[in-house]
Amino acid sequence: MDGMCIFASMIDSIKVHIADVAVFEATSADEVEQFRIAYLGKKGHITKLFADFRNVPNEQKKEYGQLLNQLKTEAQAKVNELQAALGGKGKTKGALDDISRPGQPIPLGARHPISIVRDKVIDVFSRIGYGLSSGPEVEDDWHNFTALNLPEHHPARDMQDTFFVQTKPDVMLRTHTSSVQVRHMESNQPPIRILSPGRVFRNEAISARSHCVFHQIEGLYIDKNVSFADLKQTLLYFTKAIFGTAEIRLRPSYFPFTEPSAEVDIYWGLETEADYRITKGTGWLEIMGCGMVDPNVLTNCDIDSEEFSGFAFGMGLERMAMLLYQIEDIRKFYENDVRFLKQFTSAS
Ligand code: PHE
Repeated sequence: MDGMCIFASMIDSIKVHIADVAVFEATSADEVEQFRIAYLGKKGHITKLFADFRNVPNEQKKEYGQLLNQLKTEAQAKVNELQAALGGKGKTKGALDDISRPGQPIPLGARHPISIVRDKVIDVFSRIGYGLSSGPEVEDDWHNFTALNLPEHHPARDMQDTFFVQTKPDVMLRTHTSSVQVRHMESNQPPIRILSPGRVFRNEAISARSHCVFHQIEGLYIDKNVSFADLKQTLLYFTKAIFGTAEIRLRPSYFPFTEPSAEVDIYWGLETEADYRITKGTGWLEIMGCGMVDPNVLTNCDIDSEEFSGFAFGMGLERMAMLLYQIEDIRKFYENDVRFLKQFTSAS
């Protein structure tokens, strides 16, 4: 046989296939699948015919190619048509086909450790009657400083490196949530029992220990005859609930808005090497600041300081979370690395 002859029979065989495809009928999904494999499968007719393409003389390549493409399209259309008519391949019939089938698992997200700790603290204080109060993150000078007994040029303003809004020197990002307490006192009379959780900002270099954005939760209690003893009992109740220890000590300290002021340490222990590191070898850990609200602050907020007294306390949530979950680097809280975050899936 010469080349022409071979070519003629190849063209004919495609035509036969096209005719076969046109008349093919099936009564089951299985038959359709066999048909599909025979024509469109990896080792099917069409693959073979495509492989033969290079043996076709140049001048007839066009006709051969067109017929082959026609065969392919029609075979595919036939398969689609029969599959649709016979209910697909018999595998995927839609979600309602078998209602006893187990559902698709829905991956669970995790709460952020800062949220977990915040909610814990809120929960502990809500049991002794504390409500919540919130305020703006961009504050004015009065609420962040002046009303809190920190008038202009007061040296203690330097304790809190402040981000100012450049064009407005008396507008800033709040450096603590004590500003929320001022707002609350301005519009409420005692008894007051509130917690103010929120984001605060300080112009500090970012390191493993400190960040320029972090979270605080502060508490305020104002009523008649509130004493330092009440503060201490509240702190004992709190440390027992959160850290499981009532072994605390109050170190005299200074805050402009409280007098007297103290820093609260809990006894952490010195059992492991890590305990030595985080307590600097003392066994004690500072967890918050507190004190009796300075009468000037009450007066600034239109509360009669002769009639009422109260206490305030404030703590950093990152620091609490670092202690509770043994996290070494504060930056981990803001990186949103899922490998870190998913460890808290079952924490509550
Ligand atoms: N506002 C203080 C701070 O940010 C914390 C504090 C609150 C201290 C209430 C005493 C009383 O450092």
